[in-house]
Amino acid sequence: MPEAYGFTGYGGPETQRFLALPKPVPGPGELLVEVYAAGVNPVDWKVRAGMHRAFLHLDLPAVLGREVAGVVEQLGEGVGEFEVGDPVFGSSARGCGGYARFALLTARQTALKPAALSFTDAAALPVAVGTAYDAVGQLGLLADETLLILGIGGGVGVAAAQIAREAGVSVIGTASAAKREFVESLGATAIAYDRDDFDEQLEKVLPTGVDAVLDLVGADALDGVSALISPECRMLTVAAPETAARFGARSLSRQNSTKTLTELARRVEDGRLDPHVRGVFPFEEAAAALREVESGHPWGKVVLEMRRG
Ligand SMILES: NC(=O)c1ccc[n+]([C@@H]2O[C@H](COP(=O)([O-])OP(=O)(O)OC[C@H]3O[C@@H](n4cnc5c(N)ncnc54)[C@H](OP(=O)(O)O)[C@@H]3O)[C@@H](O)[C@H]2O)c1
Repeated sequence: MPEAYGFTGYGGPETQRFLALPKPVPGPGELLVEVYAAGVNPVDWKVRAGMHRAFLHLDLPAVLGREVAGVVEQLGEGVGEFEVGDPVFGSSARGCGGYARFALLTARQTALKPAALSFTDAAALPVAVGTAYDAVGQLGLLADETLLILGIGGGVGVAAAQIAREAGVSVIGTASAAKREFVESLGATAIAYDRDDFDEQLEKVLPTGVDAVLDLVGADALDGVSALISPECRMLTVAAPETAARFGARSLSRQNSTKTLTELARRVEDGRLDPHVRGVFPFEEAAAALREVESGHPWGKVVLEMRRG
């Protein structure tokens, strides 16, 4: 029986374990993939903690993970755009996680992996980088405008910074002081949220406010920059819709299509975008990988490797 890593009941990390499960069978519009790499995201521990129970029904035990890169092993009914043996990457089919030797992908949220793109980088694209691409697009940023990213140092933030910079946007991002150089390497200006002079740093860098804010932190992060938010400022949150509503921020609408994934892969291939996979863990260390993300302070993206491509 192939291995998978999941959880047996809603709760903390103590509910996680390796599971021996039969190979999943692809339904209509799905692909069975031998997984080479799987992205690790905050949503994974949030699902385990039961935070998505109201709208995501899972049969337990459930496999963790929402995105993989691998090789097509079997096609579900009606899938004509891929062939057995194709290298692909995409979003896990609903309810079937990606931390596994074999996983199901939804064909319309899957793309062919270019040869020059590693499986590890490809597995990092659907959730965090796709979210960044949608968010920057939905903020309608113009060249020479200024974007403030709250939480620039994680998977979504590093990608959003690069996508906005490529469009000629000035990017300022909040991160822990330890990440200053990392943030600057993205072409962005770093503001350390964990220093006492946070307000002074903001005022120095943004004396006249900001055109747009992308909130990737939630909680009271928007309160901390409220002085910069004019009525014209566009705001989008992926982290805390309830806080953001007080400021009139919009929530993200995910596109998550083959077309977007293909565009992201092209950008990585061209060297215009780097998902910054800083945490690579072998599958056997899935618990450590998720722990790093659950800490709330990873550097860039975290990915599990099931086998080398
Ligand atoms: N709605 C969606 O479709 C969607 C999709 C993707 C992600 N999300 C959500 O978006 C959020 C970010 O996702 P992600 O993948 O980028 O997470 P991540 O990779 O875990 O990164 C989070 C980053 O936030 C930084 N951070 C923590 N506290 C902060 C603070 N007070 N101020 C500024 N930065 C802080 C952390 O590092 P430092 O503290 O060291 O700077 C870390 O780099 C998560 O809540 C996730 O669930 C939603």
